[in-house]
Amino acid sequence: MKRILSGITPSSQKGLHLGNFLGAVKPHIEFQDKGECFYFIANLHALNNVFDPANVRRNTQNIFTEYLAFGIDPEKTTFYIQSDIPQIPYLQTILNNTVTMAELKRMHAYKDKLQNDVAQDTINFGLFSYPVLMAADILLFKPDIIPVGEDQAQHVEIARDIAKTFNARYGEIFKIPDLYIKKETARVPGIYGDRKMSKSLGNDIPIFGTEEEVKKQIMAIKTDPARIHPTDPGNPDKNITFTYFDLLEYDKNKLESMKELYRKGKIGDVEIKTTFFRFFLEYFADFRTKKTVLLKDKDQIHKLRLGGAQKAIKIAEKVLKDVAEAVGIL
Ligand code: TYM
Repeated sequence: MKRILSGITPSSQKGLHLGNFLGAVKPHIEFQDKGECFYFIANLHALNNVFDPANVRRNTQNIFTEYLAFGIDPEKTTFYIQSDIPQIPYLQTILNNTVTMAELKRMHAYKDKLQNDVAQDTINFGLFSYPVLMAADILLFKPDIIPVGEDQAQHVEIARDIAKTFNARYGEIFKIPDLYIKKETARVPGIYGDRKMSKSLGNDIPIFGTEEEVKKQIMAIKTDPARIHPTDPGNPDKNITFTYFDLLEYDKNKLESMKELYRKGKIGDVEIKTTFFRFFLEYFADFRTKKTVLLKDKDQIHKLRLGGAQKAIKIAEKVLKDVAEAVGIL
C-alpha cells in the first residue's frame, strides 16, 4: 500500500480557501481510500510570519478542525500537528548539512520575498530554511507520494534532492517520494485572475468565512473587462466565475447555457456571481455546519490531536534512530 503525505501551513486567520480545497484538501480526502495517509498542520512553518502566539494557536486549531470537517478520518489516517512531533525539527537540523545556501536562494518563497523590496539580510532564517523543514516533514515518514498544488512543487523537488544527497553520503535511508499534482486544480486562480489564489494576497474565497465575507470576495471576482454593459457580448474565458463553476463541477448543461447567454450579452455579471454565491454556500454547507459542531467539542479535538501525535511519533522515532545511527551520533 502506498504511503501518502501532505501538510498545510496555518498562516491565515481566515482558514482554508477555495484554492487549498481544490488543490489539496479534496485530493487528500480522496487518497484516504487509496493508501496509507499522513496529513498534518504545519504550525512550525507558520512561525516565520505569524508572530502573535494567540493567532498561531487559533489558526492551528481552526485548520485542524476544518480538515476534520472535510472528512479526514483519524482512524484511517495519521492526522497530526507538526509541532507535536519533536523528531521533525531534530531531523531538520541534520538535513541542514545536505543542502547549500545557493540551492535555498533559488527557492520561490525566498525569491518572492526579495521581490517585495525586502533587503536580503532582513529575511528571517525560518523563511530561508523553510524548505529544509519541509524536507524533514516529508522524509521522516518515508512516503511514496506527496500530493500538493503547483506552488509546492519546487519544495518537493528539493526534498527529493536532499534525500538523494543524504543517501549517497550515508546509505539508503530515505525513500525518494513522487510529487503528485492534479492537473486541473494545480493552480486555482485568485479572484482577480492574475495570480494564484493565496491567503496572503487577499484574492481568496474563504470556505468557512461568514456569508458576508464570502459574498464580498465573490462579488469582487474579475469579469471580462471588454464588457461594459450587461447587454454587451462577453467572453466566458475572461470571467473567472466560470472557471470556479467548472472546478466545482457545477451542472454541465446549466453552465453551458449560462456561458451561451454570456456570449450573447443576455445575462449580467451580478446574476452570474449571485448564482455562484448560492452554489458555493450550498456546496460547502455541510462542511460549514460540521466545523461549527466540531468546534463545540474541544475535548474531542484535543483527544484527536494527542492520538494523531502518538501514531506519528511511533514511526518518526524509528526513522530518526536509523538516521542518527547513519550519521554517527548514536
Ligand atoms: P500551503 O499552506 O500554502 O497550501 C496548502 C496546500 O494547498 C495548495 N494550494 C493551492 N493549490 C492550488 N491552487 C491554489 N491557488 C493553491 N493555494 C494553495 C498548496 O499547494 C498546498 O498543497 N509548505 C506547504 C505546507 C507543507 C507541506 C509539507 C506540504 C509543509 N510541509 C510537506 C507537503 C509536504 C504550504 O505552505 O502549503
